[in-house]
Amino acid sequence: MCGIVAYIGPRDAYPLLMKGLHRLEYRGYDSAGVCLLNDDLRVFKCKGKVSDLEDFVAGSDVSGNIGMAHTRWATHGEPNTINAHPHLSQNKTLAIIHNGIIENYTVLRSELKNRGYTFTSDTDTEVLVHLIEDIMINEHVSVEEAVRVALNEVIGAYAIVILAKDFPDKIIAARKGSPMVIGVGKDEFFIASDATPIIEYTNNVVYLNDEEIAIIERDHEIQIRTILNQKQTPYIEKLAMSLGEIEKGGFDHFMLKEIYEQPHSIYDSMRGRLHVDQGIVTLGGIRDWEQKILNAKRIIITACGTSWHAGLVGEYLIEDFARIPVEVEYSSEFRYRNPVLGEDDVVIAISQSGETADTLAAIELAKSKGATVLGICNVVGSSIARATHAGIYTHAGPEIGVASTKAFTAQVAVLTLLGLLLAQKKGTISQTEFQKILIELDRIPAKVQQILELSQKIKDIATIYKDVKNSLYLGRGYNFPVALEGALKLKEISYIHAEGYPAAEMKHGPIALIDELMPVVFIATRRGIYEKVITNIEEVKARKGRIIAIVTEGDETVKALADHWIEIPDTLEALIPLLATIPLQLLSYHIAVMLNRNVDQPRNLAKSVTVE
Ligand code: F6R
Repeated sequence: MCGIVAYIGPRDAYPLLMKGLHRLEYRGYDSAGVCLLNDDLRVFKCKGKVSDLEDFVAGSDVSGNIGMAHTRWATHGEPNTINAHPHLSQNKTLAIIHNGIIENYTVLRSELKNRGYTFTSDTDTEVLVHLIEDIMINEHVSVEEAVRVALNEVIGAYAIVILAKDFPDKIIAARKGSPMVIGVGKDEFFIASDATPIIEYTNNVVYLNDEEIAIIERDHEIQIRTILNQKQTPYIEKLAMSLGEIEKGGFDHFMLKEIYEQPHSIYDSMRGRLHVDQGIVTLGGIRDWEQKILNAKRIIITACGTSWHAGLVGEYLIEDFARIPVEVEYSSEFRYRNPVLGEDDVVIAISQSGETADTLAAIELAKSKGATVLGICNVVGSSIARATHAGIYTHAGPEIGVASTKAFTAQVAVLTLLGLLLAQKKGTISQTEFQKILIELDRIPAKVQQILELSQKIKDIATIYKDVKNSLYLGRGYNFPVALEGALKLKEISYIHAEGYPAAEMKHGPIALIDELMPVVFIATRRGIYEKVITNIEEVKARKGRIIAIVTEGDETVKALADHWIEIPDTLEALIPLLATIPLQLLSYHIAVMLNRNVDQPRNLAKSVTVE
């Protein structure tokens, strides 16, 4: 994780770097640092957030029009000032910022110690800057050549930026496994972990590929070389994102803004794909791969966290509609468990950021076994989007709040379209049933809007439950992944312990936890095995658990059993996750705000998990 940003050009670098760092803070906020290059390398860094760094720097000389900055999510070494980036080389002529992990850092560190290097931090990054210095001194090579040689010795993932005191008009950047984008302006260049710090200055960008090094010099074109020293031609692309999309737009938090964007983000994810009038679904990104998917022996969905929950909904949808066997795997397990995989398998990797390290590794594994790999990603041009054979973008727009909301519903919308497309092509669904689902899917954005209007009622419920220590979320069928997602949202932003379970599994263990202090959130909509869920509610009630129920409009049975209820519009069973998730997002949000939590940047988390 970690966010990096760098600049060279005619502007004052410091304000631009700080603005960029604020935009990247979702990637980690354990410490922050900045380096400006004038006659010397001036480094300022401290524990805490970017605003702490700004306070720390106040009054210092931060002039200069070349510099770099970093916001850290700690991997190696405590989140303190010493371990904050940038790190300087021993002779203080080089400075580095790094996002990623150097896996062989202990070996390199002890070799460098034997050669007389002293380490001031516990980070893996400091090893790299000493190594580059060592190569420059001993092999009498340029800084870019030393970086290239050093990167050949490194095992792991990196996006790095290096400034050298003796080369005040040059920035060296390189990446492998961690994202990096270079903005190309008129007489100026921007480097960042994603495009958000760049968008207001230019929309011309170059995405650096793995094992590429960029040499960026004032008044020169960018040069790119691989770590094997092959020259590459920079490919300049246009960014589609706008500045408005990455600002809060009057909401108190990005998370709230993103929850409220869902009528649009779901619509945008279906636009041009859902054709109710013609009775068809089209997914341009996978058109050439349709036959392969239709002939697949099975589909394996791989993802992490919230995206994994969307994958579970996808399993229900694709099996239900298209009758193709689906398995859903945590990428972190899948990549290490020697799965049986072959050419007849289609793997679908789901990721909002498109940068999750475990999911990327799962993709590489699947490709190496001959499987077809498709991506469902939100970030255009991200590593996962590029590593997969083909894919479908979710079009949810930038998601800044660390807790995923609109990306989840966009993923589910896209998976619904995929299930429908496969079902129609396979003939596993009648055209009447198909058309009925299309019509209902088309109504989902308006129904989401209706649910958002319940925010005040949900806030009232949040007031009652904000101080609980534990909670259970239960659902069955399509609502089981919704229960998991509801529980994850609560725990990650409010720090209240929450467990999601299939409702009927409760009696195999969790029921022991139920007493009059335990709130149980039931997703008890009136479709599927609704009656069975009512039995589960009765079981909780008999043990004096407090029941908060998500119910279908007009339902009186569950309302009579529940302490509190939130009514959502009726829809087809397969589409309920798109609606039932929304009140759970709002419930978590309101509780977290009442507890004074940092909703957009919850402790210990980062938006883009580029380490395994
Ligand atoms: C939870 C959350 C995480 C992510 C997970 C995967 O709200 O945001 O659980 O879903 O880290 O991230 P992506 O989807 O970017 O691969």
